[in-house]
Amino acid sequence: MNSWVNSAEILGSDLPLELSGTGNRRALLMDALREAVRSGRLAPGTRLPPYRSLAADLGLARNTVADAYAELVAEGWLAARQGSGTRVAERAVPVTPVHRPRTPERAARPVHDLVQGQPDPSVFPRTAWLASARRALAAAPDDAFGPGDPHGRPELRRALAGYLARVRGVRAAPERIVLCSGAAHGLRLLAEVVGGPWAAEEYGLPFHRALLASHGVGTRPLGVDADGARVDGLTRRDRAVLLTPAHQFPTGGPLHPGRRAAVVDWARATGGLVVEDDYDGEFRYDRQPVGAVQGLDPEHVVLLGSVSKSLSPTLRIGWMVLPQRLVGPVVTAKGEREQFSSATEQLTLADFVGSGAYDRQVRRMRQRHRRRRDQLVAALERRAPHIRVTGIAAGLHAVLELPPGTERSAVRAAAWQGLAVECLADYLHPGSEGAGQADAPRDGLVVGYATPAESAYPEALEALCRALPPG
Ligand SMILES: Cc1ncc(COP(=O)(O)O)c(C=O)c1O
Repeated sequence: MNSWVNSAEILGSDLPLELSGTGNRRALLMDALREAVRSGRLAPGTRLPPYRSLAADLGLARNTVADAYAELVAEGWLAARQGSGTRVAERAVPVTPVHRPRTPERAARPVHDLVQGQPDPSVFPRTAWLASARRALAAAPDDAFGPGDPHGRPELRRALAGYLARVRGVRAAPERIVLCSGAAHGLRLLAEVVGGPWAAEEYGLPFHRALLASHGVGTRPLGVDADGARVDGLTRRDRAVLLTPAHQFPTGGPLHPGRRAAVVDWARATGGLVVEDDYDGEFRYDRQPVGAVQGLDPEHVVLLGSVSKSLSPTLRIGWMVLPQRLVGPVVTAKGEREQFSSATEQLTLADFVGSGAYDRQVRRMRQRHRRRRDQLVAALERRAPHIRVTGIAAGLHAVLELPPGTERSAVRAAAWQGLAVECLADYLHPGSEGAGQADAPRDGLVVGYATPAESAYPEALEALCRALPPG
């Protein structure tokens, strides 16, 4: 009998499993299974055939297959659960983030993921979201199912106007809000409408800089120190400045009140635009909430926000709170119809916000992130007391300060522990040397503590502590 026909039936997919080579049959089977996972032929979550049938198909002893499964479970490639057999582990293959550390030598090995970026996808509030979707669809007017207005659904703009005013101190009439497909889309639209050049914090998301560049907008770096961006470096030539005032990304501090006022003065004096990326403004722990700079001057500041940190980046729903003069041009740049996010998702989010479910979710996530943050701090105190951790008062990540010149080797050491994590240099603006960092770290690891599943987090912290340079 062909050795893989039966297993393919059980797997529900066409999976040739050949044991090539000679030698230990268990090792050959393990290699073949690892390769099937690595290549993507066996996707995360795929159920493997019971070891009895695979043994019969491949002409192996049952124990050989059972031992191979058990070892692959121990290595993290497979997961076994009572009553549901053996499956490919959800995290058997490294999840590739937008900008992974350069560690090809461990790329194929199981990883712990402390790359900053996203909330744990397993905590998406499915039940509450479904309830909102049901209510929103039942109540939706017929025009919700026709071609969409590029401003975005009025129900969501009204709900956001109330929410952002209450929680972030944003001054936002619904007419000033234009919905977009996340902050990234908002940036693209602003690049098109405002033109360049822009100033951008010397530490920031490379993806955002690349996105602006691809729309013809060059950026030049503004120094960042412990008080946030050095806005005294802005000039008349800058058409706009991209800032993360509530929680400098990724170094972690809030923009000093004096600098918040100064950047608004610059915008008023020069006609420049402040683009406020309020990516995680709701997640603050130990300090007083920091309101949005937009509240200081809605005519010179655009607030960009999205649900990417609070709910999920896959929803692709974001918002721009715009100065009056930019509403028309931004809507025109968006096009004649809403092409970027679904009206039914917008209506669902409107209900989710309006019913209080969004507040509840943010509160829940805040507690969870704070707990994670506390576990990180405690682990470092215990295992690496010589490492200072900063940027912990808010957000979903922290910065571990390292001795000068050690961050790249720490990332490599982490990779050898099966841990994906990034360093500050990954975020540095080309042409900048972190010059604003007179009293802030130059070498550091950016540790995202929100993404791992609850059960995976302690091990990820262990791996992190093992990777840190000794004191
Ligand atoms: C600095 C920063 N800004 C904004 C965002 C949100 O981007 P988007 O709304 O396009 O998903 C992120 C990531 O979630 C981010 O890290």
